[in-house]
Order: sequence, then C-alpha cells, then structure tokens
Amino acid sequence: MKTIGIAVVGFGTIGSGVVKILQDLAPLIEKRTGIYPELRWVVDKDITSPRSVKVEKAKLTTDYKEALADPSVEVVVELVGGKGFAYTLIEESLKGGKHVVTANKALLAERGQKLFMLAKEMKKSLLFEASVGGGIPILRTISHSLVGDRIRALYAIVNGTTNYVLTQMALNKSSLEDALKEAQRKGFAEADPTLDMNGDDAAHKLAILATLAFHTELDFSHVHYEGIEHIALEDILHAERMGYTVKLLAIGKRDEDNRLELRVHPTLVPKDNQLAFVHYEYNAILVESEYLGTSMYYGKGAGSHPTATAVVADIMAIAEHSREGNFELFRPYQRLEVKSMDEIT
Ligand code: HSE
Repeated sequence: MKTIGIAVVGFGTIGSGVVKILQDLAPLIEKRTGIYPELRWVVDKDITSPRSVKVEKAKLTTDYKEALADPSVEVVVELVGGKGFAYTLIEESLKGGKHVVTANKALLAERGQKLFMLAKEMKKSLLFEASVGGGIPILRTISHSLVGDRIRALYAIVNGTTNYVLTQMALNKSSLEDALKEAQRKGFAEADPTLDMNGDDAAHKLAILATLAFHTELDFSHVHYEGIEHIALEDILHAERMGYTVKLLAIGKRDEDNRLELRVHPTLVPKDNQLAFVHYEYNAILVESEYLGTSMYYGKGAGSHPTATAVVADIMAIAEHSREGNFELFRPYQRLEVKSMDEIT
C-alpha cells in the first residue's frame, strides 16, 4: 500500500475539518488514487480542549519539531495562521524536506515570495488552494484549466464575513452592527472581524489570485483596498432603490497595455448581475478571459469542511504528482520569472 504521511499543524476550525475528512474518507481516497492519506501528527499548543473530532493521544503533540523530525511525514499542513510562527514553520518544513500545504493568505500575500523560492530550491511543493475562496477550486482552475487562455479581469467576492453583513443589511434591513453580530453568532465572522471588515483579507486574496491569473510578481502593496466599516443601512437601501446591490468586490484587471489595476472596495453591482445573487457567506469569482469568455466559480468561501476539502485536494495533488518529480504544481514562482509589469502575459 502506498501512503502519504501528513502532519496537521493547527487544530482549529480548518484543522479539525481536515482530520474529519481524512478519518471519514481516507479509504475512499485510496481507492480513487491508489495512495492512502495517513494522518501521522496533529500539532497544536492546546491538545486537551475538546474538538469536533477525536484524535488518538499518540498522534497529538504540542511540539511541531517532533512532527518535522518524523521521516514518515511527507506533507506538513500549516493551519496556524498569522505571519510569524507560520513563516518559521513553513521555512523549517521545506528545509527539512517536507512538502507544505497552507491556507494562510496573509502570509503568502505579504511574505510568500521567499517561501516559493525556497520551495523551488528544495524541490518541494508549497500549495495553497484553501487560501482563496475556501472550498472553491479557483486557484487550480486559473492555473491549470485556463492555461490555454488569457485572463483579462477578475471580479471576486472573496470575503464571507463582509458578504454576509452586506446581504443581511440589504435583505433584512439590519444595521451594520446588528448584521455583524448575527454573522458572529452564526459562526461566519471571527470574534475580531477587523481584517475582514477593513478589506485587508480580500486584498490578500486578490494579490494571490492576481499573481496566478496574470502571471506576474505582485506585491501586496500594489493592491488598493478599503472595507465596508463605514457603510450605513441608508447607503444600502438607497443603492437598492436605484437598482443596485452593494458588494465588496476584489477587482483585478489587465488593460490593453498590460497594465494591472488591483483594488478592493464596496461596489455598486446592478441587481441583475450574477454577482448580485451571491448571498451571505458564499463567495464567487467571476473571470473574464479571452477565449472562454465569462465564467464564474461559486461556493462556500469559508468554514471547516469546505476549506478542508481544498487542503485535502492539495495533499493528494502532492501525493500524486510531486513524487514523480513534478513538484511545481502551481508553478507560481516559475511563471514569475517575468519581473516587469509591462511584460505580463
Ligand atoms: N474570514 C474569512 C472570510 C475566512 O470571512 O471570508 C475565509 O478566509
């Protein structure tokens, strides 16, 4: 039996989802791929609080170095978040000869380049499908399925918290504060939703999307962004009366001269546009490309199980391809050889 050994670092919402899928579906995944995804370690600073899934004690540790030292671990799944320890963990994992899967959009958008270069140097994969759009397989789509096309523009709803709040305001005439409280009560918004509400989270996701869509090296500082904190119910109702719905859109556009425009801000979307029908915690990425035309990718952009499906997909992509030496799955760094914004393809 072929297996791939996995260490999940970060036993929170997504980590629990990954464990759950591996526990439920590993035999089925093996039937489909011929490779059994084996959970070897679950690492967290808190391994005693009850979770939605049970993990046998022998697999739990508070010391990530224990997991990294295990030669049977081929893939380290980074789900701790943040830009400090997560960076160290990924760096040490790659240097230690492990492949890495992460959902950490802030880290990749702001400090990703060095890690991608390191992955290339170490001949290891660094995959991140879960970092944008949760369970929607959007990065794989723009990197692989649209390889025979040229993307002109992206219009994306990639933040579930703000989309929930805006939907609740428009449909139920809630104030922004009440709508946010409702989103938190239902578990769609973090206890501290600052980085969602101010557009920061969507801007990170746009930087990642645009890097892959436009094949160029993008710095997060290239993204202009503003959030929805200052939107009042009256603004929403006024827009509705004029035939528009307000959405926090992440927009990436390439013009005729190959110049890029990257921005995140509240936008008036005509009520009959597809994006106006993306309600509550759902995400959607509308892609305009030269040969396919318009296509839209829709689904749950956050949450334990949806996001975990993307993590497991990355693990299995590594299991199936990296072993044959095809480690540069999304090849972002390879395609980033074009440095100049004038030369983007
Ligand atoms: N806080 C994020 C959101 C979670 O609201 O979309 C998924 O990245």
